[in-house]
Order: sequence, then C-alpha cells, then structure tokens
Amino acid sequence: MGGLGVLAGIAALAALGAGQTAVVAAPGDPGTPRYQAGSDGIGDDYFPLTGNGGIDVTHYDLELRYTPPDPAPAPREGTLEATATLDLTPTQDLHQFNLDLRGLTATSVRVGRKPMAFSQVENELVVTPRPKLKTGRAVEVVVEYGGTTIRPTDIEGALYGWVTTRDGAIVVSEPDGSATWFPVNDHPRDKATYSFDITVPDGLVAVANGDLVGERSAGGWTTWSWDAPDQMAAYLATASVGNFELREYAAPNGLPIIDAIDRDLPATADDGLTQQGEMIVFFESLFGPYPFTSYGAIVDDDSVGYALETQTRPVYSRVANEGTVAHELAHQWFGNAVSPHRWQDIWLNEGWATYDSWLWTEHDGGSTAQARFNAVMNRPATSSFWNLEIADPGPFGLFAGAVYDRGAATLHALRVKIGDEAFFETAREWVTRYDDSTATTEDFEALAEEISGQDLDAFFDVWLHTPTKPTSW
Ligand code: ARG
Ligand code: ZN
Repeated sequence: MGGLGVLAGIAALAALGAGQTAVVAAPGDPGTPRYQAGSDGIGDDYFPLTGNGGIDVTHYDLELRYTPPDPAPAPREGTLEATATLDLTPTQDLHQFNLDLRGLTATSVRVGRKPMAFSQVENELVVTPRPKLKTGRAVEVVVEYGGTTIRPTDIEGALYGWVTTRDGAIVVSEPDGSATWFPVNDHPRDKATYSFDITVPDGLVAVANGDLVGERSAGGWTTWSWDAPDQMAAYLATASVGNFELREYAAPNGLPIIDAIDRDLPATADDGLTQQGEMIVFFESLFGPYPFTSYGAIVDDDSVGYALETQTRPVYSRVANEGTVAHELAHQWFGNAVSPHRWQDIWLNEGWATYDSWLWTEHDGGSTAQARFNAVMNRPATSSFWNLEIADPGPFGLFAGAVYDRGAATLHALRVKIGDEAFFETAREWVTRYDDSTATTEDFEALAEEISGQDLDAFFDVWLHTPTKPTSW
C-alpha cells in the first residue's frame, strides 16, 4: 500500500465531483488523453456515488468468514474477514478505477496477482492498477478486506446491507447496501454471476443465492458453498446467517426449492410458504418460465422490518405470509430477471410484484384484482397518496406506498385499456426482451404501445407522470 499512485488518486478524487472523470495524458503524447480514471458513480441521478464508471464486473467470488456477536448483551457487532475475487473487464482504458465499499477496511488489492496501490475515501475503494488496464482486457481483482459488522441503514433510516443479528446476519441490500459487505460495482446495470464460500461457527447455517454446492466442517467452523450461475444485480445478493433448518424439495415443475427456516420461530411462521410451488406454476403460465435455477425462502427470527426478493431466495422478517410470498416470487420475473435501469424506475419492480400478488389472490379464490383496484381508487383525490409521480418518486420515495399500489393500479388500468391478450403478451415480451438486463419506464411504455398498437402517451402521462389522482385515461 502507499506510493505515488495512492496520493495521486486521492488528489484526483478530492478535486472532482460525483460523476466526473480525471483524464491523464498518455506518455509521449501529451495532447491525447488515453488512460482515464473510471468515474466514482455509474450515473444514477438518485445515488450519484453508487456503482462506478469504466468497469464491467462479470463474476464475484466471495469468501467470507463471519463471527456473529457475543451472546452476552453486547452491541450487535460481528466480525467479517473476507476475500472477494472479481472478474473485471475495463470498458475504457484505465489508470484508476473505483469499487464501492462501506464501513469495512481493505487490507490488500491485487490485480492479475500483483499487489496494487489503493486507498479508501468514504465509500469508495480507489485502485491504481499498474500496468494500466486496457479496454476489453479482463483482469482478476482480488480484494482482502474485513472489519466489524454493524446494522447499517439506508437514506430513509431502514436497516439494510449486512445487518448483524443476535445469532447471525440478515443480508438484504436494496438499493445500495451491497457495499456494506463486499467491494462491488453496486448498481443493477452491472449484473454478474456469483459464487460464495461462507464460513461460520459450527451449528450456524449460511444461506446465499442459487444452488447449494456443499458444506464442510473443520476446526469448529462450517463452510457453506453456494453457486448463483444466473446474472444478478448486486442488491439481490444475500449471505444470511442464522440458526436455520434447511428444507429441500421440488416445485411441481421440478424446480429445486431450498427453504431456510429459523429454528427459533413458532411453527406458523412459514405457513405462507406451502403454496410456493403452485405459485411458481401459476406465474409461469402468465409470464413464461421461472428465470433461474432454483428457489426458496429464508425466514429469520430477527427482523429488518420488511421482506426482500433476494434472487432465487427471498428473505422474510419473522414471518412469511402468503401475499408477501407471492409478491417476492413475482419479483423474480419483475425486478430480478429484468431490473430497473435507474432507481427512478422502481415502480416497474414494485407495481408489477404488487399486481401479481393481486392476481395470485384472485386465482387462489380470494378478492379479485378488480376489487383491489377499486380499493386503491376509493382513496379520495385529496389524499397525499396521490401526490407522487411514481415514475420519478425521488430517492426518498422509492418504497412509498404509492409506488406499490398506484403502480399495481396502473397495470390493472392498462390491462383493461389494451385487453388481456395484449397485456399479458406485453408482460411476457418484457421478460423475454430484457432478461438478464435492465430497462426503463420509457422502454415499458414503448413496448406496451408496440404490442397493443395503441398510442398510450396520455394514459401513461396520467398514471405515471402526474402527481394527482387519475380521473380519466
Ligand atoms: N423490495 C422490497 C419489497 O418490496 C422492499 C425493500 C425495502 N427496502 C428498504 N431499504 N427500505 O419486497
Ligand atoms: Zn417488492
């Protein structure tokens, strides 16, 4: 560590604002800047320092050793010692690049096996690779890091990231909490595959995304290995640790399911999980094949106050009830296979997942989607519920009720307007066209117009872009 590269990196960072890049002339050709510093943000207006420029991470291999808090009534702090190996392809010629890392300390950074100069400035890990990196030429970046884990919060004050619990950790990182547990290009625009080796004291179970590869014990520690071979946005990665019982079975379509249920919970906590298989079959009939290699739930006895659709294996706080289970499952198509291109597009996640849970409830003999729509529309025009432009809710409005319920009502109104055939074809084409990728509200509007053959500008204007109650559309 140390050396001129670090000092230059810090100086360059200090002189620049979010989203700007430093330019350094190529040696011998001072007029033609060639190598640049990757920008410190990916360019998301809501979270300017989230993600980074100039890099494309294709795989994260995370080796984590985690010591949960002392059982004594001490602060909830654990210890993480970790090695992250990133397969990284430069998208520009780089003399410097950033990763996001928050609250943990990097102790070494290697690029192509050689130790590199690096520094940490707030939540940015700044690496100065030598030799410099050339566009398109993939390198392996190995970061050794660690520290004390706490209970981080997002800009609204909600727990997220690596949330230390009494007997483990609940790991739920939407929207930008992944940096609290690994060095990451923390934005859905840079999806990657993941593999995990999570080492915890014997008796505890670590559950991540994808397929369980194996478990082995030595010297009082157990290492749980998971492989997540499908493209995944960073906020959907999990590595939750607890006193879990693993239950392995298959959905009616053969999809492997692994549920992890906290042994300290009452028997009713997982009642909502019994229909997961049927729900998968139902959503496949509407939206096309389930997009990943496995599924399941993590139900912890501690709580972050909400559930999250972590890819292939949603996390539930204390209880998994049927409506929430349908919601988190629907996110696997809407949010996970297709992710928001900008955080302002969040209604495409929450509106769809909410609407799909309405569809499940109707299918299962409960209230109809039309009745749920009517209930939303029963809110008086004077209610502040309507004063949100849900296609641009602002960083503090990402999880506002209207993003969910007005979002779902928008989809129901669209279905009535263009008819079932065009509506469900739009849904299926959306998932097919943007699978493993991201898309915007504009992409959605264009697709609905393309498939229905209707001009929907006025419709979307009223529903998504006007902060008052829709009255005609
Ligand atoms: N996407 C989650 C859901 O609707 C909610 C996440 C809330 N996250 C937060 N940081 N408040 O199931
Ligand atoms: Zn949701």
